Amino acid sequence: MALTITIPRPDDWHVHLRDGEMLDAVIGYTSLRFRYAMVMPNLTTPIATTDQAVTYRNLINDATPPESPDFHPLMTLYCTDQLEVQDLLRGHKEEIVEAVKYYPAGATTNSQSGGSSMMDYSHIFESMQEHGIPLLVHAESTNPNIDIYDREAAFLEQELQDICNNFPEMKITVEHISTSAGVDFVNAYETLGASVTPHHLSRNRSDMISPAFHADLFCKPVINSENDRQTLVSTVTSGNPSFFLGTDSAPHPTKAKYGKEAKAGIFNAAYGLEVVAEIFASEDKIDQLPAFTSENGAAFYGYEPSEEQLVLTREQVEIEVATHLSTQSGKEVVLFGTEEASHWTIKAKTD
Ligand code: DOR
Ligand code: ZN
Repeated sequence: MALTITIPRPDDWHVHLRDGEMLDAVIGYTSLRFRYAMVMPNLTTPIATTDQAVTYRNLINDATPPESPDFHPLMTLYCTDQLEVQDLLRGHKEEIVEAVKYYPAGATTNSQSGGSSMMDYSHIFESMQEHGIPLLVHAESTNPNIDIYDREAAFLEQELQDICNNFPEMKITVEHISTSAGVDFVNAYETLGASVTPHHLSRNRSDMISPAFHADLFCKPVINSENDRQTLVSTVTSGNPSFFLGTDSAPHPTKAKYGKEAKAGIFNAAYGLEVVAEIFASEDKIDQLPAFTSENGAAFYGYEPSEEQLVLTREQVEIEVATHLSTQSGKEVVLFGTEEASHWTIKAKTD
């Protein structure tokens, strides 16, 4: 018998929607499936003011296919020297700005406007703590002397720990958590949550570099060891409420990914849900799927789960699925998770 599970329409608590023709090409994958999308602010020109967030939200809404059910982009501001407390507080009060995103400068795509020390932004964190504005953190050291696979742990210990201790009431999300050290860190603080991606749950670093470097699996933070992956899987399938789905879907044209300066980022908005469903099914924990995809993140950010539902079915036969998308000018983006997607159908529950 086919395996079937019904879940509240999920939320994506971490996504890169880009702008221009890439936004047009990717938005439907997110808007037709997810309810809320926490939209990252790392455009080429960072989204750092409330006015920029309004303009970007309008762009997203204009690009959203009209048949999308109950879709709402939630906007974030980039923690840069341009970020002003008064503007942030206005944006939050007017329900335009949901959260602030901190990038260590140089850690990843379009992070050059980020910080070199979190403590430099204490005056902003003070107000965020007071007004209940969440801080989303790309937790990865940029110190070239630290092994790339240890950079999440190093950042947590050297930067984020002080912030957690100095701002004990601030809600903080460790984004795209990738290691056992990260899981331990999040579990040690009540105010911390973590987004977890489909790729960090389903692949390990050997998949990325063996038998040859596989640019489609290159992202930041890099996918880590099999032990780390197993810790992530056992954590999310246990129902631990601090952990929730954030796809970190991050489209790059194949030309940019396969080039000499391979861009970090995996486009998984199309099949991320199938990848996650496959993990929970193979662990025999499918009953915990709704907590991870639709309940924990909503509760962390102060929302009820969606009242709409999706029906996910693991099919007996293999289904043919698309492997690429094309932008209007013909740029190709690889879709992550085609293998998993060929086993699942996902439909809105209509009755
Ligand atoms: O792999 C990544 N890609 N990690 C990030 O943090 C940013 C993202 C992007 O924007 O491409
Ligand atoms: Zn991201």
